[in-house]
Amino acid sequence: MNTTLSSFDAYAEQYQKSIANPEDFWSNIAADFKWRKKWDKVLEWDFHKAEVKWFVGGKLNITENCIDRHLPQRANQTAIIWEPNDPKDEAKHITYKELHEQVSKVGNMLRAQGVKKGDRVCIYMPMIPELAYAVLACARIGAVHSVVFAGFSAGSIADRIQDSGCSVVITSDGSFRGEKKLDLKSIVDEALEKCPTVKTAIVFQKLKLGVKMKAGRDLWWHEEIAKVSADCPPEEMDAEDMLFILYTSGSTGKPKGMVHTCGGYMVYINYTFRTAFQYRDGQVYWCTADLGWITGHSYILYGPLSAGGTTVIFEGIPSWPDMGRFWQAIERHKVNIFYTAPTAIRSLEKAPLSFVEKYDLSSLEVLGSVGEPINEEAWHWYNKNIGKEKCPIIDTWWQTETGGFMISPIANVTKLKPAHATLPLPGVQPAVMDENGKELTTNGVEGRLTIKFPWPSMARTIYGDHKRFFETYFSTFPGKYFTGDGCKRDEEGYYRITGRVDDIIIVSGHNMGTAEVESAIDEHHEVCETAVVGYPHDIKGQGIYAFVILYHPPKDEEKLRGEIKETVSKIIGPIAKPDKIQFVSGLPKTRSGKIMRRILRKVAEGDTSNLGDTTTLLDPAVVDEIKAGAL
Ligand code: PRX
Repeated sequence: MNTTLSSFDAYAEQYQKSIANPEDFWSNIAADFKWRKKWDKVLEWDFHKAEVKWFVGGKLNITENCIDRHLPQRANQTAIIWEPNDPKDEAKHITYKELHEQVSKVGNMLRAQGVKKGDRVCIYMPMIPELAYAVLACARIGAVHSVVFAGFSAGSIADRIQDSGCSVVITSDGSFRGEKKLDLKSIVDEALEKCPTVKTAIVFQKLKLGVKMKAGRDLWWHEEIAKVSADCPPEEMDAEDMLFILYTSGSTGKPKGMVHTCGGYMVYINYTFRTAFQYRDGQVYWCTADLGWITGHSYILYGPLSAGGTTVIFEGIPSWPDMGRFWQAIERHKVNIFYTAPTAIRSLEKAPLSFVEKYDLSSLEVLGSVGEPINEEAWHWYNKNIGKEKCPIIDTWWQTETGGFMISPIANVTKLKPAHATLPLPGVQPAVMDENGKELTTNGVEGRLTIKFPWPSMARTIYGDHKRFFETYFSTFPGKYFTGDGCKRDEEGYYRITGRVDDIIIVSGHNMGTAEVESAIDEHHEVCETAVVGYPHDIKGQGIYAFVILYHPPKDEEKLRGEIKETVSKIIGPIAKPDKIQFVSGLPKTRSGKIMRRILRKVAEGDTSNLGDTTTLLDPAVVDEIKAGAL
């Protein structure tokens, strides 16, 4: 289907069609792909049971659609541009033909290790082409990839491997992060001590750090790949077979392994990528996310490749060697579409403008934003200095669970409003609910954001825990998918996401469950109890503020704060380190023992003028102490 929309009316018409007859709408789009067998039924669903199936009975392989399908016309077109950490090193241009060969070889390497359809493979790698090959190779042979962001700790990797029972891990002997070198292999080694299901670890040699290899378990990528051919027939998958698991933080307990399936995911990601950005053949597209997050899965790999596009994979960080790194790479690769996170924009806007002005950004046509609400100031800076006021900013609202964009402007079609994700994409039916579960049907309302009709790329379950899936997403507003976000819908019907309404904090665009951070802090032997809340942070969007009760008065507060941060970094990863730690003698609890986070949030925000009703507290005096000691 042609996804070019010439006007707002064309969008409105497509939207109406998609709502009036969703099955026709999606089957038209799905018809563009290579199916081994066409589906028997477009959709089966029951939100009261949290059950959804798309393209029932259809057979396909997503890599055949992302790679093989393009070979007749695009064998020599660049599929992936790899921009290395160090700008002095050479970028790589990987054609569709090379991608086909590499993915096939890695697929065969995995098959040689006995990996079969349905087996789970954990991937813990830096942003190098081999990471993309590994992900796609799993998809090719029908193995379920579970990519773990290479900033997570050994404990977090172990939890994820155990939860999904991975039999193989793919990693590398190290990674660069700016000028630092990280030893990924020993983090994996530590994780694997607790993971008996893992029989094989395949290690890509990147830094030649001289890592130890465990006999009988660890294999070098370069040795194994030399043994296999480049002929790797794709596994035939059912549309509803698992494609991948990706973990995201929950508001309580351990991370949730969101399960995405093959058919609907492919169709939706392709459609939304082409539609929102109005992607045209030949454009160079760069999404700065890491492949360890959903943004990387859907909009670095599967979206652009399924569209036959050219996608940039960037190994480095925006601030090294200097704050001009992004802009330098845009000039170097003549990037046309640039998609990044508000956190990155906020940190780069603090640097002198000369870092931007040094580079020719005239190739840019479309900008994107994702991961958290973009504040107006950052929006205007991005628009003025990067887009030179001629590139629409596509503020895409979506989630790990939704798989793809849900509410988003369409480039050069939707009238923009700074800080607004604007309007639902075709096929998406949002509903704003009040706290009593009533749908607010008019415009000019504020409430909780739900989606009332299925879309093809929605997560199908939480791996191994369908009950939790149902309870988390489908029980708050029966018959509707609850996003966990609050939103406003203005008089024009435009949506503005106001942030999470549950105990999840979005730090630099990454979801962080307060419960998870609290239990990591509690691991420190001096800590008795902790409560964690988010607070507005200049760069990260939200920062982590921890209120900590200790067993003994601290001898050296600063040292202890450092130790607690290290504990969290070790247990979850550096991204979860609290920004502020306030030691308190008690927490504001109700008589039934529930922490009143509302009060802590106000203190953390520095707004203690009106703390609301505190009479139900067991010990109201504790509030004065907390207020007095606020950081
Ligand atoms: O609160 C919303 C916020 O990020 C959450 C989803 O996080 P995650 O699953 O990690 O996926 C991030 C990449 C899609 C949402 O519930 N969020 C994401 N995009 C936006 C956003 N908030 C406001 N505006 C956005 N564009």
